[in-house]
Amino acid sequence: MQQHPPEPFRIKMVEPIHLISPDQRKKAMQEAGYNLFALKAEDVYIDLLTDSGTGAMSQYQWAAIMQGDESYAGARSYFRLKQTMQDIFGFEYFVPTHQGRAAENILSAILVRSGSIIPSNMHFDTTDANIRARGGDPQNCVITDAFITKSTNPFKGNMDIEKLEELIRKTGPENIPFGCITITNNAGGGQPVSMKNIRETSHIYHKYNIPFFIDCCRYAENCYFIKLREPGYEHKTLLEIANEIFQTADGAFMSAKKDAIVNIGGFLAVRDGDLFQKISNELILREGFITYGGLAGRDLEAMAVGLSEGLDEAYLTYRIGQTAYLGNRLIENGIPIIEPTGGHAIYVDAGSFLPHIPHAEFPGQALAAALYLEGGIRGIEIGSVMFAHPDPQTGEMIYPRLELVRLALPRRVYTQSHLDYVVEAFKNIAQRCQDIRGYHILYEPQFLRHFTAKFAPLL
Ligand code: F0G
Repeated sequence: MQQHPPEPFRIKMVEPIHLISPDQRKKAMQEAGYNLFALKAEDVYIDLLTDSGTGAMSQYQWAAIMQGDESYAGARSYFRLKQTMQDIFGFEYFVPTHQGRAAENILSAILVRSGSIIPSNMHFDTTDANIRARGGDPQNCVITDAFITKSTNPFKGNMDIEKLEELIRKTGPENIPFGCITITNNAGGGQPVSMKNIRETSHIYHKYNIPFFIDCCRYAENCYFIKLREPGYEHKTLLEIANEIFQTADGAFMSAKKDAIVNIGGFLAVRDGDLFQKISNELILREGFITYGGLAGRDLEAMAVGLSEGLDEAYLTYRIGQTAYLGNRLIENGIPIIEPTGGHAIYVDAGSFLPHIPHAEFPGQALAAALYLEGGIRGIEIGSVMFAHPDPQTGEMIYPRLELVRLALPRRVYTQSHLDYVVEAFKNIAQRCQDIRGYHILYEPQFLRHFTAKFAPLL
């Protein structure tokens, strides 16, 4: 049996959590319109909704918070962050942003026009929506192995280089203001991208003079996978691997709420001075001055410390080992998941776990709801609720290839016994999975409907 890795920390402060009764959970779900985002967090026992902004900060981060310089312009905390940014990412310019989507919004506002195509391996939902909101068309060119849940390809987040080049030729590079890659690939199972593939992606974009941006919110986990799985990197430090990744790019955007282990923060970094000017203007209009970007000085301090801690090898060995522990215990108990286990989360294959529920009745939503009702555990649907959309030409519904429930692991928060409890809940659900019914939507907004949609169970 897979061992849970011993934590490279001990616990100095605790936050009580409670499991409310099955009847209370049923009532809470009805009141939430069966949308797990609408639950009160206090009604959740184990919260695996996201690994974003939910990590536990270290004593060094809390100590740094006390040293925050809250000056409006030129704060000491900004220069401290700038130094760390230089050491890890090496871009000439950067601005802090309050989170990842703020950086995506700024980049899209400046570069995306109606009809622009923006390729990536897979865009995450906020990136996808920010591009669409400016009239652009986000396109995913991930390798087909990404959709084969049992494929053991060690880098299932890789870009399909031929598909990418074909898309660029077909579209015309003049209609592609920038290209992306997401590391690790959150929308496709938290799977890593190899260094070789990042280089090849960079080469193709640059061959057509397209600026290359990395969505790097889980870059540290990606670096660890490169060290672990890619020949030639086993003796490199994670910092060396990070440096090598970002040398290939013209810019990066990051939600620091992930691998920088902070509760809020992000950045947009670029090499081009003209683009930086435009970014600064847009930032000042919407977020704040260029040395704080919508954050407090103390947030910049926590981010600077967290960026370094997030790259620590002992921490990442524990972190990735914990994810593998949960995944392998689910596999042992016959629960289908995306294999091999990725970085920040386990993705349960709800489509094959509940084969009697068609795409249009949201199997992922059904499983996520069942998990909460069973054990007060909150995961998130990553399937048709999040990604199904009508074909712009025919109006016919296009469904994603996988119907998943993501169990994201907050950093340094839950222990082995919490994860064992999750496995037990799945075992109970597996015994009665034929009885689980699908859902239909009662209300949905135009963009990012999964956050606020209301559902009702089908009878
Ligand atoms: N890019 C990726 C790959 C993400 O996973 C996220 C956020 C963002 C961008 C946007 O960052 O939330 O700071 O604005 N993912 C969170 C999640 C919400 O739960 O996976 P943000």
